[in-house]
Amino acid sequence: MDRSKKPSAIGVGANIPQPTVSIEQGRVEASLPSGQSVTVLLYGATVTSWKLANGEEQLFLSQKAHLDGSKPVRGGIPVVFPVFGPPPKDHATSALPQHGFARNSTWEFLGKSSSESLGKDKEKADDAVKLDFGLSHSMLSEEFKKAWPYEFGLVYSVTLSKDSLTTTLQVQNKDAKAFEFQVLLHSYLNIKDISAIRIKNLQSKAYIDKTQNASEHVESSSAVEITGETDRVYKGLDPKIPIEVVSTQGDKALFSITREALNDVVVWNPWIEKAKGMSDFGPDDAYKNMICVEAGSVAAFQTLDAGDTWEGGQTIRASSQ
Ligand code: BG6
Repeated sequence: MDRSKKPSAIGVGANIPQPTVSIEQGRVEASLPSGQSVTVLLYGATVTSWKLANGEEQLFLSQKAHLDGSKPVRGGIPVVFPVFGPPPKDHATSALPQHGFARNSTWEFLGKSSSESLGKDKEKADDAVKLDFGLSHSMLSEEFKKAWPYEFGLVYSVTLSKDSLTTTLQVQNKDAKAFEFQVLLHSYLNIKDISAIRIKNLQSKAYIDKTQNASEHVESSSAVEITGETDRVYKGLDPKIPIEVVSTQGDKALFSITREALNDVVVWNPWIEKAKGMSDFGPDDAYKNMICVEAGSVAAFQTLDAGDTWEGGQTIRASSQ
């Protein structure tokens, strides 16, 4: 056989340190040679930790969070699907719990993508690692199967890069009929002090204020300050324009969140009384150390026709605080 045209030896990986991925006791951990790491529980495919190279944790995780699969995780990035909040009456989701079943079902780990295939530049092949998780109808509890009897497939991809984390959800309708869904990546961002951050790029956007009987308002501030219980659904945003969480000291962007096909953003902080009332939230004053900025498609239900696939996601860029 003429091997004169054989491809040159790939060689990549021989000398370049590669990301490491381990799976143990229902959790997948990945780290880059440059030190960044991510932890994902199979329960809910919940990202529970994302650290920068210096070890700084970027996601808030309540000290009282249940990590044993007995309750959705209070912190990290729970995946909300197929309904956001309490399900509406007389809707196909009405028998489901608040925020649906994705965050309280056990997913399977589908594998990691080789860093070679992710790195455009082979010399930088160690720059990213992608972890894929799957959930389908047959994996649900009997209760959830009954409450939402559609054949579906979810593929959730978590990509760790040097200064960002990308989480993408693909929804496949494998049923013979259409279904409706909402989706939200309920990201709890870790901050040092709620009084020292502002949220930018929401000005002039319409929002529903869930703390005021779901009344509709228009954001007047160019830098939203959180001074009390906050639960807002900002609607119809341009996903390419990042939502920024900035520090009041120097206006530095601590987090910058761009989205794909997720046009709504929920901003949530339970504040003092609600935090105290949540049995899995702790310590009581930890509300000062978190802000949820949740990329989603929640202002309305989307319809996914039989056989169709939808995909959306977010990239959170973080800088050291
Ligand atoms: C937010 C909702 O996304 O999640 C809030 O807008 C809700 O209304 C919060 O309180 C937390 O929900 P849960 O079910 O995790 O307590």
